[in-house]
Amino acid sequence: MFGFSFFDEVHDRTNTSAIKYTDLPQADKMPVIPMWIADMDFKSSTAITEALKRTAEHGIYGYGEIDDEYKSLVIEWYNRRMGWKIEKDELLTMPGVMFGVTMAIRALTKENDSVLICQPVYYPFSNVVINNNRKLVVNELILNNGRYEIDFQDFEEKIVKENVKVFLFCSPHNPVARVWKRQELEKIAEICLKHNVYIISDEIHSDFIFEGSKHTPISTLSEEVKMKTVTCVAPSKTFNIAGLQASNIVIADEAIRERVLKERTATCYHELNIMSIEAVKAAYKESEEWLSGLLKYLQHNAEVLRNAFPDDYKITALRMEGTYLAWLDCRKLNLSKAELDDLFLKKAGVWLHNGETFGDGGKGFMRMNIACPTSVLEEAIARIKSVL
Ligand SMILES: Cc1ncc(COP(=O)(O)O)c(C=O)c1O
Repeated sequence: MFGFSFFDEVHDRTNTSAIKYTDLPQADKMPVIPMWIADMDFKSSTAITEALKRTAEHGIYGYGEIDDEYKSLVIEWYNRRMGWKIEKDELLTMPGVMFGVTMAIRALTKENDSVLICQPVYYPFSNVVINNNRKLVVNELILNNGRYEIDFQDFEEKIVKENVKVFLFCSPHNPVARVWKRQELEKIAEICLKHNVYIISDEIHSDFIFEGSKHTPISTLSEEVKMKTVTCVAPSKTFNIAGLQASNIVIADEAIRERVLKERTATCYHELNIMSIEAVKAAYKESEEWLSGLLKYLQHNAEVLRNAFPDDYKITALRMEGTYLAWLDCRKLNLSKAELDDLFLKKAGVWLHNGETFGDGGKGFMRMNIACPTSVLEEAIARIKSVL
């Protein structure tokens, strides 16, 4: 039912309050194809749409509250798909993953404490540290044979030198599309435990794993790691329901959970809204087949992109292990940030995120959201090729 034809359909998202399509800039080639922010141009599963219709048609939109079924569905999902055992008490809701990350940073650190991130990374990571008056410490990923790796020596040295309290981790990693291997996770955990560093693991992309890779939630490595970790997850990216604002945070250690809850209470956040609760239930209960179709489609798009931009071409699309955010190596073009933006947006009419947004290591790269019909991706590729 959710074969390629479902995802091939092109939908008009203009005038739907979608941020991706609001204020589309002017370009030489119109209309601009927006491939920047991370949401998908596909319809959610039919089950989610039906659940939202039922809720809308009921006509009463009062306060929401999650119930036992909500928790069971989330827990069963992660147990079934990743072998991750979560207790009901360990699960809290947040309106967004970055909201959860913020609560965890505030709970686990004081002002001026150091928080470590591996760049290039999703840019709100640095913002959240700086905006909460914590000290940002950066470990640069290393690009080795077309694949990013962690420089563990620098990672540990920075932890010691800067007296790091929290490592804010992106797993799988946006924007370099790495699905971290178990051995890499073990090394991270070993260093963090050795130096008493908490791990906040943003695993929002953990449902987007391509063939040949396997996601391991870092907290499943051992009891010790679990008690030192706060994991942020969500159905928002997975089922294209980010606009409904529902996410989950898993904290095994009771004392940490209390501290995070105290921060959450201080914001006067209440509970998820009724639309999102019903959508999350329909996602985890009835949308797995839709997700299987989506994953096949995204892998196909990743192949189309890689074939268009191979290693020996002017632009190289790095091999993707997961997520739907491709990382284009444009360093051979030898262009500045402004020149790259001009080439892609102004000349080609394809709106991407400039790699420098994700940190200094992103200089000369562009991030491309490939969660769109293949025909749209092909049009974007053709436009880029035509201006090179
Ligand atoms: C790694 C990562 N974390 C968090 C988010 C945003 O999540 P939310 O909108 O739930 O705060 C994104 C969105 O692109 C992301 O890529």
